[in-house]
Amino acid sequence: MSSTTGTTTVITNIATLVTNDPSLGDGSPLGLVQDAAVVIDGDRVAWTGESSKAPATDNRVDAGGRAVIPGFVDSHSHLVFAGDRTEEFNARMSGRGYTAGGIRTTVAATRAASDEELEANLTRYLTEALRQGTTTFETKSGYGLTVADESRALRIAAAHTDEVTYLGAHIVPPDYADDPAAYVALVTGEMLDACAPHARWIDVFCEKGAFDGDQARAILTAGRAKGLHPRIHANQLSHGPGVQLAVELDAASADHCTHLTDADVDALAHGSTVATLLPGAEFSTRAEWPDARRLLDAGVTVALSTDCNPGSSFTSSVPFCIALAVRDMRMTPDEAVWSATAGGAAALRRTDIGRLAPGAYADLAVLDAPSHVHLAYRPGVPLVSEVWRRGVRVV
Ligand code: NIG
Ligand code: FE
Repeated sequence: MSSTTGTTTVITNIATLVTNDPSLGDGSPLGLVQDAAVVIDGDRVAWTGESSKAPATDNRVDAGGRAVIPGFVDSHSHLVFAGDRTEEFNARMSGRGYTAGGIRTTVAATRAASDEELEANLTRYLTEALRQGTTTFETKSGYGLTVADESRALRIAAAHTDEVTYLGAHIVPPDYADDPAAYVALVTGEMLDACAPHARWIDVFCEKGAFDGDQARAILTAGRAKGLHPRIHANQLSHGPGVQLAVELDAASADHCTHLTDADVDALAHGSTVATLLPGAEFSTRAEWPDARRLLDAGVTVALSTDCNPGSSFTSSVPFCIALAVRDMRMTPDEAVWSATAGGAAALRRTDIGRLAPGAYADLAVLDAPSHVHLAYRPGVPLVSEVWRRGVRVV
């Protein structure tokens, strides 16, 4: 086939291909094609369809009857940090509840760490994630909470991803405990000025004990005025105004969505904000599961992500989150795989990732299984056997 880059490759003999393009294959949201092939031209998908109809290419790779899915889009993580919170986890597994108060432990460790330590940590977790099929990830600041520490976290993150989120409003740090209004002024003033050049998104932890609805609105509105797009940690630990604020501000995503009223579900169903569910957090905090079925049945777009962080969800594994979502959040395997790929892309307002159709980036995972369903059916088994990013095999 003619190429714009000089090199075309066909991956053929794919037992099940997930395209996430309903106009392809079986017409379902996953756009499944059996006995399929994918043609890659440079960093993009050029063609997908049945193997027997694949156009001629320069190179041929045999998938050996395995499944191919779009690379995972992990649209929510907190990977710029130092230290760990093993003791806090141990205490929780002995019956203590999660309060997010442990964020302060990670803030202290992160402030004390060198740039090189933070960089090495980030690289380690990214490598873990890539091996498990994640080809796009978002990550946040939020463990610095000073002008210098927040902007350095974002600078370090921006060297690895375009999806960088300013979360100066994670908690009110101990140094501002007596004057939270002064901290909000810092987050919307000098800290925002220093952070906005390194970030695409602005986030707030809208929760009792963190930031209330009025503070969250002020912070997100200030961020928007500096060109950042909003997303919100909403309704994680209790009911609150976060989800409805997210819809009101047309945030790309309301994340967690564990405690929802009917009005929250209705707002999400009528807005364009994605509900990002993070089952690693409920697993690691022994909390109530978000009800994905309720959201899906109401017509809400659902994304699934890891929330990888040292406190509430220390997993970089999207396959693990898919298995949890299917077992405990009443999602079907098809829905969970869609939410961890196309859903993540929607939560980042991207159409160039999360699908394997002509024009999209050639980001994909080859599974050591005949279909994507095995991601939930065989939990805990390392099924991701190859990862391709931008048309190049990287794992
Ligand atoms: O998404 N909820 C706020 N932030 C993180 C937890 C951070 C931590 O415990 O260190 C979350 O779960
Ligand atoms: Fe989070």
